Amino acid sequence: MLNFNFYSPTEFVFGKGRAAEAGHFVKKYGGTKVLIHYGGGSAVKSGLIGTVKKSLDDAGVKYCELGGVKPNPRDTLVYKGIELCKKEGVDLILAVGGGSVIDSSKAIAVGVPYDGDFWDMYSGKPVEKALHVATVLTIAAAGSEGSGDSVITKEDGMLKRGTGSDLLRPRFSIMDPSLTQTLPAYQTACGATDIMAHVFERYFTNTTEVEITDRLCEAVLLTMVKETPRVIADPDNYEARANIMWAGTVAHTNLCGVGREQDWNSHGIEHELSGLYDVAHGAGLAVIMPAWMEFVYKHNVMRFCQMATRVFGCQMDFENPEATALAGIKAFRTFLHGIGMPINFDELGAKREDIPALVEKFGLGDGRTGGFVHLSSDDVAQIYNIAANAEI
Ligand code: NZQ
Ligand code: ZN
Repeated sequence: MLNFNFYSPTEFVFGKGRAAEAGHFVKKYGGTKVLIHYGGGSAVKSGLIGTVKKSLDDAGVKYCELGGVKPNPRDTLVYKGIELCKKEGVDLILAVGGGSVIDSSKAIAVGVPYDGDFWDMYSGKPVEKALHVATVLTIAAAGSEGSGDSVITKEDGMLKRGTGSDLLRPRFSIMDPSLTQTLPAYQTACGATDIMAHVFERYFTNTTEVEITDRLCEAVLLTMVKETPRVIADPDNYEARANIMWAGTVAHTNLCGVGREQDWNSHGIEHELSGLYDVAHGAGLAVIMPAWMEFVYKHNVMRFCQMATRVFGCQMDFENPEATALAGIKAFRTFLHGIGMPINFDELGAKREDIPALVEKFGLGDGRTGGFVHLSSDDVAQIYNIAANAEI
């Protein structure tokens, strides 16, 4: 196991009806003027924004609001948010929504105390200061409610880039699984795919002797394999929603990833797809992640056998371990297909002829990237090709 620091300061406030406590927690963390940031309407329609406002009123906390965050959140709204926060003297941003709303909130939080363009921090400059961010989560997916990461799309050129800092970990995150019951099945499945991908990015490692994090990863994956079909079949199943919601957080606070090298190439390769075609991140991952697995599995066949046998219940073929590894990857893709995810470019709405442009945007040039297998630009092109043509 490698040396590590694990810093996860977020207070998770979990359970039915807990959004009514937003005001209390804002005060607890020193917020006096809040920006309520939200998306395209679901949180207004469900009455959640009203609940949050009432809670802030009851606690005597002032607020202003900015809605309109789109999935794959854009820099253009971030600039508006920064301006608004400066004008209103906001000291805490309350994200009410999913990963897109939370990431947009984090970008605003970075931009307010910074003299230059917030995009600098999405182009490699470290985050040195940020306003406090807190969340009321409405979808189990990105894990941004517990992570220090934020991903924003620059509208000019649809360039999707991220930043990360412990300063961006939310002060508190209110997580009421019943809020996710209004999600369309497709969004639920996209979220589930993202959660599993966050685990796989950590599971496939060259670090040995990491039994505890291997087993934590497998616990999250097994939970997702069990609970996702249950909520797709029965969207109002609170208990299954609750298990998935907590799995999403455990998957991405880095609890499952400490002390081991991680990969993250599938995410990088996917971000070019959701950037270019404005498709859901989870749907892009459903197409890319199994393709990446097929491309790299020979690097450590036995680790893929471990996934196949422990997570997907495949029989170990001791005479032919490669067959077991491939059976595991096939089982993963079949699972994704079964929950309604696309499995190739046509189903996703991506185009084969764009592959050279996607590789170019990925921006690797002659370099290599990734913690499990160091990929070149040619390798990335091959992964896009496998993804383009995948079948069950
Ligand atoms: O905008 P509204 O109307 O709220 O609709 C949203 C949106 O259309 C809808 N939705 C959310 N909660 C709902 C609901 N509809 C009905 N009922 C509810 N309770 O769902 C749609 C998707 O929302 P979004 O926030 O985009 O989903 P998600 O949480 O998957 O976030 C995706 C973004 O997070 C980034 C992705 O790249 C993508 O931009 N990621 C962020 C990470 C992080 N910060 O740590 C890590 C991830 O790997 C990921 O890259
Ligand atoms: Zn993700």
